Amino acid sequence: MRPEDRAAWLRAEIDRHNKLYHEQEKPEISDSAFDALFRELVELEAANPGLQTPDSPTLRVGAAPVQDFGQHTHAMAMLSLDNAFGEAELLSFDERVRKALETDGPVTYRAELKFDGLSLSLTYVDGLLKTAATRGDGTTGEVVTANARTLRGVPLRLAKPVPGRLEVRGEVMMSKPVFAELNRALVEKGESPFANPRNAAAGGMRQKDSRLTAARKLDFYAYGLGGFDSSVSVPESQAGLMSWLGELGFVVDSHGRLCRGADELVTFVDEVQRLRPSLPFGIDGAVIKVDDIGLQRQLGFNTRSPRWAVAYKFPSEQSFTVLQGVGWQVGRTGVVTPVAELEPVEVGGVTISRATLHNLTELQRKDVRPGDTVVVQRAGDVIPEVVGPVIEKRPPDAAIVSAPEVCPACGTKLVQEEGFVAIRCPNKASCPAQIHSKITHFVSRGAMDIEGLGEKQVSRFLELGWLNDVSSIYKLIELRDQMVELDRMGEQSVTNLLDAIEASKVRPLDRFVFALGIPLVGERTARDLASRFLSVDGLLNAKFDQLVDISDIGPKTASTVEAWLEDEENQRVVRQLIANGVRPAEVEAAEGDLFAGQTLVFTGKLEKFSRDEAEALVIRWGGKAAGSVSKNTSLVVAGPGAGSKLEKATQLGVPVTDEEGFLALLPPGTL
Ligand code: IVH
Repeated sequence: MRPEDRAAWLRAEIDRHNKLYHEQEKPEISDSAFDALFRELVELEAANPGLQTPDSPTLRVGAAPVQDFGQHTHAMAMLSLDNAFGEAELLSFDERVRKALETDGPVTYRAELKFDGLSLSLTYVDGLLKTAATRGDGTTGEVVTANARTLRGVPLRLAKPVPGRLEVRGEVMMSKPVFAELNRALVEKGESPFANPRNAAAGGMRQKDSRLTAARKLDFYAYGLGGFDSSVSVPESQAGLMSWLGELGFVVDSHGRLCRGADELVTFVDEVQRLRPSLPFGIDGAVIKVDDIGLQRQLGFNTRSPRWAVAYKFPSEQSFTVLQGVGWQVGRTGVVTPVAELEPVEVGGVTISRATLHNLTELQRKDVRPGDTVVVQRAGDVIPEVVGPVIEKRPPDAAIVSAPEVCPACGTKLVQEEGFVAIRCPNKASCPAQIHSKITHFVSRGAMDIEGLGEKQVSRFLELGWLNDVSSIYKLIELRDQMVELDRMGEQSVTNLLDAIEASKVRPLDRFVFALGIPLVGERTARDLASRFLSVDGLLNAKFDQLVDISDIGPKTASTVEAWLEDEENQRVVRQLIANGVRPAEVEAAEGDLFAGQTLVFTGKLEKFSRDEAEALVIRWGGKAAGSVSKNTSLVVAGPGAGSKLEKATQLGVPVTDEEGFLALLPPGTL
């Protein structure tokens, strides 16, 4: 295959797998197979100058640092919106609109979420992304094109031909799960966490090195247009515009809808407020726009904002309350973290009585003291957090909080390890708080997923002496009779629990690895470890050099994992798990990644091997074999007598080869 064909195929495959992973959440290939495709394209492009197309996914990982951001003058100014707080102000917006349009009938609005991120303007020329710029002062912004290329939801090339210049506007956002993970990692490294996803996204877009932006995993949601050439024909309504943007390849949010008149607007904002906590990203209100673009033109602009739109803002997510005390919580790795105990207060519709203070350094930096009036907020409307004290209200006798010397759960002297800010309880084997959090993590959803073993149940079983480490979960079956006698248990729930425990014995290896609670090993690293070492035994013998060889695993994680694996107590527990019947489903090894990420279809008669043998070869070399042809098929191997599958492949433009061609792909000596 010529390099340009291979590159084109790789680009299409990478885009397809990206979509499967991010948009449909149905990945077909492992992360490492994906990385292999990606690396191949990077290498191919590096070796063949001129091969990298302006829409190549390799542009998305970020480029080397730029010196300074240039300036960009927006073709159309980026204005802000007037705010409306509460129902009354929403109604008076509708009145202003109707008055200006001289109509008594209901106006049709498009109501949307108000994304809480930072706005970005993308300029496309003849369908290719040319420039991305921040809002700046509204007239001139900073050029952040390399950074924008790393955003999910920014097409590098529009999916349909659009001749001339087009500015697309939208919001850069960090999702709540990505934000939580970023802050967790920052705190673990002893750095200050971000106050909210918006700051984290803004910081990401300001990176001089776009590889760092890429690492922030930011999203872009399109919500409108800026300027455009007269050669571009754009829809005549906001609703039409949003579907058009979707067709062009942008990610558009699906919660927006048409509302006729003020009553429907009120219903919409109420619904959105209720929806807010369950959204995967932060919003701070709703944006209401007159749907008809002709009417928008008629309404026009004030100096700073359009008359045809308004931002309905939710009530503040910050509140004041009194800090009653600082408690210390022991996590599953023994890290002891400060927790604010608060006089219960409502923040954004939820009552909060505890909030994280992250770690000792953060606590000292914020210097909150018991008795202080403090500001609390729900950061990115997920985790409640103490922002800081109101110094003017500090009682004269408020004392500085000092770190505990001994573990609040087991009394062992705490330690602070080299290179870590965290203070830690070293009593891994018998600190009841550590055992409790280890077990609750082990049984949690993304891990062994044992339903019926919630936090309270774990506490109870620990007190009864029925549990003492994660392996003892698999001995609970011997206590069946006693369990049935327990308060609030009964036959059925005991049966359900024991069935759930039994079923968990064969969870996939990656979930088992994650469940072990190895420090710094999240779900993704667990997957990488599982597909590298393939079995529990393989993992137990892993050494630093092998670990650090895995892309995405740095020296710090590698040495932490190695130390965990070498620890005798950890080894004992893992062996005991196996002895108690846990058999993680092992990952089947591919011999190589020759066909990584590819799906092959065999049709017609083969001479040299049977269909089964040919398919087994594909799997052995990291690929997939399928029975039918679709646009996702990478290659069709057609022998004599091939019929409809061959026809379909030709129709869809899927590459076709014969048995000889397939043989030529295999490593020499395969047959
Ligand atoms: S349309 C003329 N739609 O809110 C301005 N803006 O205060 C038209 N925003 O800077 C903006 N979600 O960054 C629009 N669905 C949405 C939005 C949205 C968030 C931001 C935008 C703008 C700010 C306005």
